[in-house]
Amino acid sequence: MAEIIDGKALAAQVLARTAADVAEMVAGGAPAPGLAVILVGSDPASEVYVGRKIAQCRKAGITSIEHRLAVDTPQEQVLALIDALNADAGVHGILVQLPLPAHIDAALVLDRIEPGKDVDGFHPVNVGRLSTGTGGLVPCTPLGVMLLLDSVIDDYRGLNVVVIGKSNIVGKPVSMLLLEREATVTVTHIETRDLPDVARKADVIVAAAGAPHLVRGYWVKPGAVVIDVGITRVTDFDGKTRIVGDCATHELDHAKAVTPVPGGVGPMTIACLLSNTVLAAKRASVA
Ligand code: GUN
Repeated sequence: MAEIIDGKALAAQVLARTAADVAEMVAGGAPAPGLAVILVGSDPASEVYVGRKIAQCRKAGITSIEHRLAVDTPQEQVLALIDALNADAGVHGILVQLPLPAHIDAALVLDRIEPGKDVDGFHPVNVGRLSTGTGGLVPCTPLGVMLLLDSVIDDYRGLNVVVIGKSNIVGKPVSMLLLEREATVTVTHIETRDLPDVARKADVIVAAAGAPHLVRGYWVKPGAVVIDVGITRVTDFDGKTRIVGDCATHELDHAKAVTPVPGGVGPMTIACLLSNTVLAAKRASVA
């Protein structure tokens, strides 16, 4: 049987460490780290994610400042809010929940965030820092993926890693982190030919395609490690909805280790958002 990597347990450890860091900062006279969360509109999935992020902040002692804006809020107003948060010394992290409504240019909005407060790691300065290995803030899901991998892999040098999906949020940044650890990284996507054959050569698969049960048992080499970043909500025949990952995990008994969905990457993403906020606050205090 493959080991099931427990993302909830690992996330609890990261959250406990983050809460201890916050307590130490506050005991030393620093203000509690502050995270501003901007949600434009009321996309149901975004509402759930934002609710979870804010609840976890509270538990860790991070001050969360919520900005819920109407779906038809003009772009200029969102930009003006970001300018105000950039200038607010009590705000150490700014997160704009994606997706944004169609009338708002997401790239323009993300570019407006002060890079030192960009706890999502989406600003071009942070993307550049990641790709050159020069610090910056690293996107939360890729950070969480690396911590999950670190729990079962000591040395990445020369390992064949196949990343499925080339998104800016997961595929590209996780590839950079793996390259930094000297893995041999193949980034695949919807146009990749013979994907099952490519995947079968992998020592590690990171599946971030958003395609339910794309990765089947025969795609996975015996002893490989499989990280499932997919979260697709599907409706069953009885009308009930459930979350499905990118991997047919029930066919992966021959893998070394796999992450479950839910309970794998998801909890790690939020834990890493909080650790990024504390990191941003610490860096602001020495700047
Ligand atoms: N929407 C889906 N994933 C994310 C994420 O990691 N950050 C933000 N801001 N929005 C998202």
